[in-house]
Amino acid sequence: MDKPKLFSRDGAAYTAVAEAQIAELWSILSWPEDPLPVLDVGCGPGDVTKKVIVPRLPPGTKLVACDISPEMLEYCRQHNALPGTITYEPFDVMDPHVERSTVWKYAPYGKVFAVMLMHWVPDNRRVVQNMHKLLAPSGEAVFTIIANMPLFAAYEEMVKDPRWTQYMERDLYKFISPYQHCEDPVSVFCQLLKSEGFQVLRCDVRPQKFAFPSELQRRDALKSVSAFLNRIPEEQKEEFMEDWIQHMEKLGGLTKDAGPAGETKFYMHYNSMVAVGKKL
Ligand SMILES: C[S@@+](CC[C@H](N)C(=O)[O-])C[C@H]1O[C@@H](n2cnc3c(N)ncnc32)[C@H](O)[C@@H]1O
Repeated sequence: MDKPKLFSRDGAAYTAVAEAQIAELWSILSWPEDPLPVLDVGCGPGDVTKKVIVPRLPPGTKLVACDISPEMLEYCRQHNALPGTITYEPFDVMDPHVERSTVWKYAPYGKVFAVMLMHWVPDNRRVVQNMHKLLAPSGEAVFTIIANMPLFAAYEEMVKDPRWTQYMERDLYKFISPYQHCEDPVSVFCQLLKSEGFQVLRCDVRPQKFAFPSELQRRDALKSVSAFLNRIPEEQKEEFMEDWIQHMEKLGGLTKDAGPAGETKFYMHYNSMVAVGKKL
């Protein structure tokens, strides 16, 4: 993901879902009198960091937000700065030497948030291990994850199309949730958390949808998360987008309806897994 402007501009739909999910999870979290710093991993453009997480923190709590993408971090610093509270740092959550990373110097953390991150990272075990190292004893890790989504199923169909195979086949599964074909993602993720030293405080999967005010905004939001679009030659990009959208519609991933006031809403559907683990 390297399109922070697009992701942020059309990200109101993402931020709204994050707001609702984090609001619901917040009551599970415990805050000691002197809260330790909080880490937001894979912060993207920083909208969820600044607008959803920071306003809920106990006064005086510091937050370190990090991302692998320099473009995202640059956008965060320009648009979502909050000096004295948020520090933005580059960090690869897969770093095998987390003790030498930029975020280690602020550890241990009281909480680590991974909002819409884990489906971007094929090796979830490594992420959970790194989070465990970064947390203080009894620290809590919060996850929101795309368990499965027609968007990914569409990629699996499109890779068989000779027009797209060469751009998609080499690393298709890097861009598909590791839980896409899991019969029981909750059991798998709970097992992962427990085996890496967490007590599971919550883990469930529910249908979820992003709502956009226009078809164009939904299309732009799709563009901002498309792993393959950058590789498609300029003259075929529109054709790729059309084909992707058609596949998703056929798979039931994109719908629309008239809202209560008669305004049409455009949806993108997925199954969302949310989890909270406490470091033992
Ligand atoms: C879907 S965005 C979510 C952004 C933000 N948390 C939100 O909810 O709006 C996922 C972010 O994870 C970042 N990311 C992907 N792989 C990563 C890694 N290995 N280490 C750190 N960040 C990563 C991407 O650059 C992207 O900004």
